[in-house]
Amino acid sequence: MRSSFASMVSTPTAIADADFLKFREFFYRKTGIHFDESKRYFVDKRLLERIAGTGAESFRQYFINLRFETDTSELQKLVNAMTVNETYFFREAYQFDCMVNDMLDDIAQRKRAGERIRIWSVPSSTGEEPYSIAIYLLERWAQIDDYEVEILSSDIDTEVLAAAQRGVYSARSVANLPKAYLDKYFRKVNDNEFVISRDLVSAVEFNRVNLTDPLDTKRFRDIDLIFCRNLLIYFDEMSRRVAAEGMFESLNPGGYVCLGHSESMSRISNLFSVRRFPDAMVYQKPI
Ligand SMILES: C[S@@+](CC[C@H](N)C(=O)[O-])C[C@H]1O[C@@H](n2cnc3c(N)ncnc32)[C@H](O)[C@@H]1O
Repeated sequence: MRSSFASMVSTPTAIADADFLKFREFFYRKTGIHFDESKRYFVDKRLLERIAGTGAESFRQYFINLRFETDTSELQKLVNAMTVNETYFFREAYQFDCMVNDMLDDIAQRKRAGERIRIWSVPSSTGEEPYSIAIYLLERWAQIDDYEVEILSSDIDTEVLAAAQRGVYSARSVANLPKAYLDKYFRKVNDNEFVISRDLVSAVEFNRVNLTDPLDTKRFRDIDLIFCRNLLIYFDEMSRRVAAEGMFESLNPGGYVCLGHSESMSRISNLFSVRRFPDAMVYQKPI
């Protein structure tokens, strides 16, 4: 028979309905992420793991500490545990085609040679999106040397930002990359481990940002192009609106936003105009 100290310490094994609702409201205010009933199993499982991880004896004790501790490290761990970080290289690549075939040329027309062009990947998750942008620029945009291009990369999850800076990727993550780029920009460690070049890592600037917090987004100004893909699906209408307004404020006039293929500005905001290019439909801040 297994008898251990752990079996004497009671940690909760289920989250009551009322506690789920309290937690959902709190988490929504902190992140903009809305969990409906269909996410209940996922939320309960992660929450119970965090409660056990801190040694709290009940949801109540954990929740009191979470709200009133001045140290925000447990809140960040919880955010890291609750986010969905699915991504891969060259995902929805038609928008990268649109970037190098149309949007950047249009942006460059409003700049002088040598001026800065700023591209913001938010949310970046583990880095596949900002690094795909960097590879596209280097390989497929003829004017790259005529401008000072900056790539900024942000996410609310600090673990994915750390992973992005480590730059180690699985075979699944790099599966969409043309072989020539894989050979050129990665070092193969084994069949399931590819390390991205340090030059690419140092070409991207990483920052933790909550896109529904205007205090966070106001640090980002003078942006020309935003990739905000596969995030708004986790938000409710109000968070989407706050995120859209934050992006609008961050962009230069004429700047662009690319959303994920199942996302749209149409019910969120009328601040942006729709631009239809041959490769993609994108949103533009009026000039
Ligand atoms: C599914 S990934 C999308 C990554 C990439 N843009 C793509 O399309 O492949 C969603 C990311 O959004 C991040 N996220 C969730 N809420 C956020 C918020 N309020 N502000 C910034 N990032 C957030 C998550 O941490 C997660 O890494």
